[in-house]
Amino acid sequence: MNTTPSDNSPGKDSSSISFTALYTGAVWHRNGLSDDILATGQGRWLYHLMTPFEASSKALLGGNIRTFLLQRHLIIDHLIEQALGRGVTQVLEIACGMSPRGIRLRDKYPHIHMVEADLPDMATRKAARLLVAGRLGDKHQVMPVDILAESGVQSLEVVVKRAFDNNEPMVVITEGLTSYFSLPVISKFWNRLARLMQPRPGSVYLSECYLMPERPLLRGTLKSLGGLLGAVTRSDVSFHFLNDQQAAEHFTVCGFPSVAVHNPADFYDRLPIPESRHDPMVRVIEARS
Ligand SMILES: C[S@@+](CC[C@H](N)C(=O)[O-])C[C@H]1O[C@@H](n2cnc3c(N)ncnc32)[C@H](O)[C@@H]1O
Repeated sequence: MNTTPSDNSPGKDSSSISFTALYTGAVWHRNGLSDDILATGQGRWLYHLMTPFEASSKALLGGNIRTFLLQRHLIIDHLIEQALGRGVTQVLEIACGMSPRGIRLRDKYPHIHMVEADLPDMATRKAARLLVAGRLGDKHQVMPVDILAESGVQSLEVVVKRAFDNNEPMVVITEGLTSYFSLPVISKFWNRLARLMQPRPGSVYLSECYLMPERPLLRGTLKSLGGLLGAVTRSDVSFHFLNDQQAAEHFTVCGFPSVAVHNPADFYDRLPIPESRHDPMVRVIEARS
């Protein structure tokens, strides 16, 4: 479901979204999931700025942005670990921002090949921090990517080939990216990714989506907040789906033969994630080749 008309077109610059990575980076750091080398002053400032809003959302709605960030992040980690347990050794995190996942994964699984990718400015910023910490090398790389680029060195196809020039399975992650684009625009990316995963059986794509809530008050509030975030990031912030079934069907149509839509509530007894008072609005998508 789209709340705004589509205007993200191929070639459009979506770097106005990038600053949001500083906020999510601060959330990971505050919750003991990150490393000091990824903490930023702007992230800390945004974290303080957002605290009153986050506190009132938690009190009024029974959940807030920090709740669903931690839910999605830790469930994605859990599903990555499951894929590594099945023998996958290649991980590509697109729109990595200041995500500490690459550091954590390489510390725990030194045999894996981790490639982080983001728009050029963010990729340069991330690479500089990892380099200072002595983290970069043959098995931990950072590359520029633009999911809207249809050709050239920053296109998905070229980045995947540069990252893993083989037909071995890979885990691909996009966290906190897809909801900034209208459904038609992001579906083109999903189509292209499904085509790249198809010759690599055992590959997994992990991402999250947000369901438009049924409760009218919450629905209205979220539409307004989505509009506000869209204005600030100059993007098409969208709630793509109404329910799990719609989400699963859409990913199947995009070319993923096997799709699971995970509700955080199913992980409350297994993972150290915060609980939402009502049905969580976030879902984690696990789409396999
Ligand atoms: C909300 S942040 C998420 C960062 C990180 N995944 C996390 O969860 O902390 C969104 C990220 O998407 C990146 N981004 C925006 N447009 C992009 C594009 N066209 N291609 C690749 N990454 C993009 C931004 O630079 C930013 O790092």
